[in-house]
Amino acid sequence: MGKSSAQSATQNSMDKRKLLSEHREKSLLGGGTTRIDSQHKKGKLTARERIHFLLDEGSFEEIGAFVMHRSNDFGMENQKVLSDGVVTGYGTINGRLVYVFSQDFTVFGGSLSETFAEKICKVMDLAMKNGAPIIGLNDSGGARIQEGVVSLGGYADIFYRNTMASGVIPQISAIMGPCAGGAVYSPAITDFIMMVENTSYMFVTGPNVVKTVTHEEVSSEELGGASVHSTKSGVAHFTAANEIECINQIKKLLSYIPENCEEQVPHLEYQSGDEMRMALKDIIPENANQPYDMRDVISNVVDEDSFYEVHKNFAENIVVGFARLAGRSIGIVGNQPSQLAGCLDIHSSQKGARFVRFCDSFNIPILTFEDVPGFLPGTDQEWNAIITNGAKLLYAFCEATVPRVTVITRKAYGGAYDVMNSKHIGCDMNFAWPTAEIAVMGAKGAAEIIFKKEIDSASDHAAELAKKEKEYGDLFANPYRAAERGFIDEVIFPEETRLKLIKAFKMLENKVANLPRKKHGNIPL
Ligand code: HXC
Repeated sequence: MGKSSAQSATQNSMDKRKLLSEHREKSLLGGGTTRIDSQHKKGKLTARERIHFLLDEGSFEEIGAFVMHRSNDFGMENQKVLSDGVVTGYGTINGRLVYVFSQDFTVFGGSLSETFAEKICKVMDLAMKNGAPIIGLNDSGGARIQEGVVSLGGYADIFYRNTMASGVIPQISAIMGPCAGGAVYSPAITDFIMMVENTSYMFVTGPNVVKTVTHEEVSSEELGGASVHSTKSGVAHFTAANEIECINQIKKLLSYIPENCEEQVPHLEYQSGDEMRMALKDIIPENANQPYDMRDVISNVVDEDSFYEVHKNFAENIVVGFARLAGRSIGIVGNQPSQLAGCLDIHSSQKGARFVRFCDSFNIPILTFEDVPGFLPGTDQEWNAIITNGAKLLYAFCEATVPRVTVITRKAYGGAYDVMNSKHIGCDMNFAWPTAEIAVMGAKGAAEIIFKKEIDSASDHAAELAKKEKEYGDLFANPYRAAERGFIDEVIFPEETRLKLIKAFKMLENKVANLPRKKHGNIPL
């Protein structure tokens, strides 16, 4: 090769390198500095900043930075932006592989085009093949209106993948801006939804449509803000005061969960010590009708500060969340006597069922704390299908094959006794405290029914009722009848609960249980 042709080859190579550098620079800019400023003014981070804070430093590898949309309608051929409104790739969180997509509101309002959807599908497919969680950071005006049906098709491609990935890899959605129309259904299929207070909202139809159709005047926040979805609808599992807090919560959540359904749960180093917890000794009030906070029981049993509550402000009559016991992740489901006396109702059954199914999908052992007087009575519950909804929790427990342990702290009445991870439906170890009352119903209600004639014919109705109530209570308001039958494996002192549970879960570490061969069950939805 002559000198001049060598020079021209070098020039050529330099030009190519320059082009790549220019492309890289441009792709980082999204919709431009003005739009980035406007995002910051709203108190929001950009798509790339979110990824920066989410992943371990320097671990992010982008995929598809040079992708651009293919639309030529409505002047779109002159508005091509590198990355096309979604930043996708992979990286690590605390050294563990994750895949991520982060919607960029500065580009066409983060709206979903055909290529935008393809980019998301690509990382979802990689996440599935490589068995690692997928995290979606959502901030989008929904389907890209200029693209029509190809955008709708793109959504459907994502929904399909969400469904195929369900139970295979953990899927986490953070809502960090608008999430409207069909855009809500991808997060809805994922395992957990986190919302940022005051800057994010989710709804199928926005305030304008609501006003047209129902004449209701409602703001975006009132219709689908973080507060509404974390308290009333239960759509959101976690809320955060700002985006950084939300990102930190994603990291915390992942620390309890395996990378995929084939992996065992994370196990931190644990040095055993004094496992007695004397604070539990007097936690149950003298009066059986007096409430107490089941969270106090939980925090005294699990490793210090390890309880991470899910759905904290929704259906508060049941408490669910992750914790660690001797360093190993577990899932906890507990009745909450301080709310509705711990009764099971529609929302608490749904909340419990979904949590149990998540834990079972990802090999997370389940610990149940039981203090339940039964199902919540009333027309509201019956007309809205407490039968079907209560059955969800029952079904979820029945089907779970992970190690399962129950501690009955006080009431275990009626059908709720069966539902709350009883021995009969596959619980492996069932403990009861001496304060446990295992019966068809409370002593007063039982006496009123079975001794009705005696009470009616007595000269002093109240005294007779009290006498019969005591008679029934003496017989059944204890754990020993159930223990005689083996429905309870051991009656334990509250203060030794942690020790007993550490041993029980260790004993169950290698549990193998299989469901009958089938395509899939038909949970009462
Ligand atoms: C194309 C969009 C867009 C969209 C917003 N933009 N949404 N472009 N398709 N869906 C553009 C805007 O034109 C604007 O561009 C820029 O993004 C920022 O939008 P603004 O309206 O200025 O921002 P803001 O005031 O913050 O309002 C955000 C918003 C609003 C609430 C999301 O833009 C909005 O209501 N968008 C439409 C929402 C919607 O109805 N989507 C379709 C849902 S139906 P410029 O260039 O002016 O800055 C759907 C079907 C899916 O998603 C079905 C799947 C089953």
